Amino acid sequence: MKVTIDGISVEVEPGTTILNAARQIGGDIVPPAMCYYSKLEGSGGKCRTCLVKVSKGSEKDPRPMPKLVASCRTTVMDGMEVQNITSPEVIEARKGVVEMLLINHPLDCPVCDQAGECHLQDLGYEHGAAKTRYEFDRRTFEKIDIGDKIQLHMTRCILCYRCVFTADQITNTRLHGILNRGDHSEISTYIEKAVDNDFSGNVIDVCPVGALTDKTFRFKQRVWFTKPVEAHRNCDKCCGKVTLWYKGEDVIRVTGRKDAYGEVEDFICNTCRFDTKKTADWVIEGPRKVSHSSVISANHYDTLRPLPVVKTNPVLQEANKEQFERETRL
Ligand code: SF4
Ligand code: FES
Repeated sequence: MKVTIDGISVEVEPGTTILNAARQIGGDIVPPAMCYYSKLEGSGGKCRTCLVKVSKGSEKDPRPMPKLVASCRTTVMDGMEVQNITSPEVIEARKGVVEMLLINHPLDCPVCDQAGECHLQDLGYEHGAAKTRYEFDRRTFEKIDIGDKIQLHMTRCILCYRCVFTADQITNTRLHGILNRGDHSEISTYIEKAVDNDFSGNVIDVCPVGALTDKTFRFKQRVWFTKPVEAHRNCDKCCGKVTLWYKGEDVIRVTGRKDAYGEVEDFICNTCRFDTKKTADWVIEGPRKVSHSSVISANHYDTLRPLPVVKTNPVLQEANKEQFERETRL
């Protein structure tokens, strides 16, 4: 099926959503997605950040769709024409969605561990209004402890359901979910059971904001001061392919490898994530290019002074050849 998004055409399989068709084209025309996650069945349709305008329904029925649609949930029709960044209406609506998401989200980026890789921070930067019009009290929640590995900050949650789908589909025991309705909805384990099973750490990777963060990494470092390195190990529970985040010679965090849309390539187990934080535990492959358009990608790995681990690893040495030469020249 042929679909045209912001003037660029692409042929896709029937049943493909507009969002995935846009991802096949790539670049700026891809709508942002806060709740859709390609690896999680049933995700999407919650946050409305991916709204687009269908200016031509299909070749057979060229009438435009009367309202903006969620591109993660709308499948393409042959001959469909879609506008994303070329539609002022979409940009305006997205601004409204961001304003709505930020109504209850605290602006605590300076102390939030997600800062630098937070999709809401990026959206707020691109579409957010400088001031709030909201005059009522923000939502507050009783603090609950969900275990020694994962920190829950309910006030930051945008109720995207990704962590619930992850627990449902990746782990064998889901202990948390969204309780209550409307303004009172909250992520909770209900009776404060710890979220603790072999794959529970993946909820940290899928959370688009700082509502679920890694307790073992908490307040240790701003992510843009860390160096992401690809590494693997033989693991009997998961693929063992991860990104190690270095500060100096120390691995201060282990995550799944994330793509340009902030989605992990493979889910990893808790042993790889929390219990193997020594360089000796891993086979280093090379620097991880962060392609997600956030401040984190501003940390141009190969233009910075090499880490000790770079100096001793041939693969990393090759990738950093240019800067070694520059260092010698200087
Ligand atoms: S905690 Fe994070 S992943 Fe879970 S629903 Fe809230 S924002 Fe989404
Ligand atoms: S990504 Fe489409 S509604 Fe959230």
